[in-house]
Amino acid sequence: MQPERRDPRSRPPGRGRAARLSGRRASACLPGLSLLALSACAGPQSTLTDAGTESAAVAWLFWIMLAGAVVIWLLVMGLSVYATKINPAAHSEKTGLRLIAWGGVVFPTVVLAVLIVWGLEKMPEFRGEGEGPKIAVSGERFWWRVAYGVEGEPGVVKSLPAGGVESANELWLPVGRRTEILLGSPDVIHSFWVPSIAGKTDTIPGRVNRIVLEPTREGVYNGVCAEFCGEAHAQMAFRVIVVPPAEYEAYVARQAQGAAVPQGPGFDAFMKNGCNACHSVRGTPAAGQIGPDLTHVGSRKTIGAGTLPLSAQNLSQFIAVTEHVKQGVEMPSYSMLPASEIDAMAQWLEGLK
Ligand code: CUA
Repeated sequence: MQPERRDPRSRPPGRGRAARLSGRRASACLPGLSLLALSACAGPQSTLTDAGTESAAVAWLFWIMLAGAVVIWLLVMGLSVYATKINPAAHSEKTGLRLIAWGGVVFPTVVLAVLIVWGLEKMPEFRGEGEGPKIAVSGERFWWRVAYGVEGEPGVVKSLPAGGVESANELWLPVGRRTEILLGSPDVIHSFWVPSIAGKTDTIPGRVNRIVLEPTREGVYNGVCAEFCGEAHAQMAFRVIVVPPAEYEAYVARQAQGAAVPQGPGFDAFMKNGCNACHSVRGTPAAGQIGPDLTHVGSRKTIGAGTLPLSAQNLSQFIAVTEHVKQGVEMPSYSMLPASEIDAMAQWLEGLK
């Protein structure tokens, strides 16, 4: 027996009204949904927050291109309405070809050429010399090694921040100054990006890249890794703290000092369990070079490269179930240790202001 055939163009019985209604509802939601998307266009991690000279230029270019795109969209829509509704009669081939030549070849070529020349002309301004001491930043798996006050070119492999005061996952910058950042990586490619202040630059094993950050407004901004680098790529963030130059100098001087609490039960547990094989705490015998320098970890805003806010409780959690908090992290979990030892370490680390 042949199954009943239905004309594919006909709607299923009784569904037409419902489909039209849900379609209308969906279009009514559209403006709301686009507002939701726009809400991401501000804040500490937006390219449209012009907190740096380079990001201000990027934001300006974005608005100009958006305005241009709106004008072009209106033109194309107007033409299609004209050609299908207002004057649907057949148009001559000559008119069509002329439209393609001017609208599809000449216009985009001229616009793109102007944008490229403008961009190339801007580049030297952004990539010029920095002022004052340099900061070295190394993309590690999966965190950021930072060294302040680096003189000359640092080594390109593990020793990138040679010289200078070492810290991690937090970058302090003086407002209104052009600070040169030297970027490297010991193993895989990352990309260093502070959207609110400047464009992004890759950290590439075996070479030193440079970027100049010129923040124009004080505040706390977010930085991210913008190149897929492995399992914990999404948890490789950092904070950028922009302060007046005098406060910046005071911060670097504070970071240069040794640990505030060089002894105690937390320190004993840290040494006994071998944490010093990977971590340094200056002013104590802990001098590991593999993981983040913890000399002033208690003064940072986050742990695990932006994964959790800094607190003794979160430090305990990070030490106990590291892999659970941040999948793909190189540090093993220490859940086999007694909770009292983990808590003692966490409290000691939190006190390292
Ligand atoms: Cu490092 Cu992505």
